Amino acid sequence: MKNLLDNIEEILLMGPGPSCVPTEVYNALSRKTLGHLDPYFLEIMEELKEMIRRIMNTKNNLTIPISGTGSAGMETSFVNLIEPDDRVLILINGVFGMRMQDVASRLRAKVEVLEFPWGTPAITEEVEKKLKHESYKIVAVVHAETSTGVRNPVDEIGGILKGSDTIYLVDTVTSLGGIEVRMDDWNIDVLYSGTQKCLSCPPGLAPLSFSDKAMEKLNARKSKVPNWYLDLTMIANYWGQNRVYHHTAPVNMLYGLYQAIMLILEEGTDNVFKRHSRCHKLLVEGLSQLGIKMLVEEPYRLPMLNAVCVPDGVDELSIRRRLRSDYKIEIGGGLGPLAGKIWRIGIMGHTAREENVERLLMALESTLYY
Ligand SMILES: Cc1ncc(COP(=O)(O)O)c(C=O)c1O
Repeated sequence: MKNLLDNIEEILLMGPGPSCVPTEVYNALSRKTLGHLDPYFLEIMEELKEMIRRIMNTKNNLTIPISGTGSAGMETSFVNLIEPDDRVLILINGVFGMRMQDVASRLRAKVEVLEFPWGTPAITEEVEKKLKHESYKIVAVVHAETSTGVRNPVDEIGGILKGSDTIYLVDTVTSLGGIEVRMDDWNIDVLYSGTQKCLSCPPGLAPLSFSDKAMEKLNARKSKVPNWYLDLTMIANYWGQNRVYHHTAPVNMLYGLYQAIMLILEEGTDNVFKRHSRCHKLLVEGLSQLGIKMLVEEPYRLPMLNAVCVPDGVDELSIRRRLRSDYKIEIGGGLGPLAGKIWRIGIMGHTAREENVERLLMALESTLYY
């Protein structure tokens, strides 16, 4: 029988995720599977929780990887806290803010949104103005909006919410491991991420943390969490001292995440952030020499997700197809109103190396002009 897996090529992953995976992580994934209640595996789980705390800069007790991709992290965050008619404010400037709105609305929250043009950040003063007159159970925002390459001022918004009863919920799927995330210092109550971006592990887990304040709200619910699989009151019993079976943990994926975070901590987070920033600058310079502009104004740009304007008259899809077929490089296209107008170039995690950026720039030049 022909095995399709034999023909998987090595592609340089420079899209919006997944990113390239280091050999050490692939090796970790192929370690012997232990039982999900095995005492040695429990040791690995304990250390993994501590490593996630370090990378999120939090002391929160409930800091665990959720089984599922980044969207499972988003869904877990909202489903555990929302009860029907709860007031929720979502800041939207791209696809993932819209996804939050969809998730919260399905839980029958009273969702309000504050929208900002795609390609620009949320404006702190406008959020402040809104919060002066209204109160919400949850205020939610995406730190790194992957659909546009914009960094939202998560720390400033956290400053506004400090001392309030509101739960501050932040998506760090694209930012964690690539730029600084300081959960406790920024007053974030609920934070989730994904493994396949700057953590450079394959997709499949969503690191998540709930502050004590968020846990109090969860424990004060009048109704049961309406989703069994993502119910943190039960999941916390498996990840806590009781070790009560809830669902079979994806053991090998957890090995992979453990190794991926260890690599980041060993390199040093500051060094990792600087590497992302250097690669981003190299990319922007190189693109500018090719006459290609960035979508986002410089102060709001993300280093790991670069939204690049497709030059006039260029068929963006055919360029992406040629990069994939002739140069074995993947980049992303635009989403929603930006479809056909931008490319999304990821320099995330293990991908963020100067040689990869140079390889892409050369390939892009050849594809565009020769
Ligand atoms: C900011 C953001 N949030 C959430 C998600 C959803 O994550 P996943 O596709 O892993 O479910 C993504 C995925 O690209 C993202 O970029």
